[in-house]
Amino acid sequence: MTVSLEQLRRCHVAVDLGAARTRVYVKGAGLVVDEPSAAAINTRTGALIAVGSFAEKMTGRTPDYIRVVRPVSGGTVVDIEMAQRMLRHLLGEKLRRALRRKPRLRAAACTPHDADPLAQRATVETLVGIGARRVELVDTLIAAAVGCGLPVEQPTATMIMVCGAAATQVAVLSLGSVVTAQRVPVGGEAIDHAVVQHLRHAHELMLPSQSVRPLQLALHGNGITAEGPESTLIHGLDVATGLARSVHVDTAAVRDAIHTPLTAVLDGIGRVLRDCPPDLVADLTDTGIMMVGGSALLPGLDQMLRDATGMPVHIAERPDVCAVQGLGAMLEGKITPLVLDPLSE
Ligand SMILES: Nc1ncnc2c1ncn2[C@@H]1O[C@H](COP(=O)(O)OP(=O)(O)OP(=O)(O)O)[C@@H](O)[C@H]1O
Ligand SMILES: [Mg+2]
Repeated sequence: MTVSLEQLRRCHVAVDLGAARTRVYVKGAGLVVDEPSAAAINTRTGALIAVGSFAEKMTGRTPDYIRVVRPVSGGTVVDIEMAQRMLRHLLGEKLRRALRRKPRLRAAACTPHDADPLAQRATVETLVGIGARRVELVDTLIAAAVGCGLPVEQPTATMIMVCGAAATQVAVLSLGSVVTAQRVPVGGEAIDHAVVQHLRHAHELMLPSQSVRPLQLALHGNGITAEGPESTLIHGLDVATGLARSVHVDTAAVRDAIHTPLTAVLDGIGRVLRDCPPDLVADLTDTGIMMVGGSALLPGLDQMLRDATGMPVHIAERPDVCAVQGLGAMLEGKITPLVLDPLSE
């Protein structure tokens, strides 16, 4: 993925197609779409019923003939046609018309650092389907680092951790490029899944998917590392009878359940540090880790990383939208040309 800033400056629109959310930045207008990557379709007629947050609200609540689909999975567009239909509806008629007026619409999109050619192709085809004549791909790690204001163009090391829904990417950046990177297939979804499985095993309780976040917030009282309230009242369904039941859940046990998937993330950080030249590791002791991505908001995750690595850990101001805002900054030409651009001779 070698794309120059000059090429990015010619783009009109920036898109971040994530497993959880789709975000679109339009040059001159800013972030115009930030909605769940979901679409509800009528399986009898094939008609699209809803997209975005409305479609997500339908999850688990639809009659047989309506299906809620997620066209992006694990950072890759898995259903190109559905992703195009979803994007068209998310953009809305007004914006679509404005974009159609551009004779040669150029789009930029971010893709995971280790995206294979097939995954890259799927992203490009999705955007070509909504009218883009040319698509530039940018590494999510670089876009997110620019978006949260890290001094990527400097010859000092910065460590970034992109905590997405499907995966966590950890990397050390210097001089505008990735020095070493690791992608761990554990993200917000895996953490939610660990909580749901724990309640099933320990309390024979089924938790509606919407209740996971309140439980995490209950833990937050004091984060996933510190001592919090000893138990929290949780409402769910009994696995055997299907009847509504409330149980007092031991918060320490839930914290342990969350820790299990997170050890893979800690291993990822260890691997990145081992692959990193010693001079850069020395810089990192001061600069620490910058967390971006929606799951960076998981209560207490930053403290857990601080305890495990001994490094300073920061959470970006708006961690969830860093990548698309970074792409947007590149489109607007707001970053210094040293980044990404080779010296012109
Ligand atoms: N306040 C919060 N606390 C805990 N987790 C959160 C919070 N807000 C969002 N998340 C989690 O963040 C994840 C979404 O993050 P993000 O928006 O970065 O995903 P994405 O970019 O669509 O995914 P990916 O980059 O993996 O394709 C979801 O799994 C969600 O559960
Ligand atoms: Mg993302």
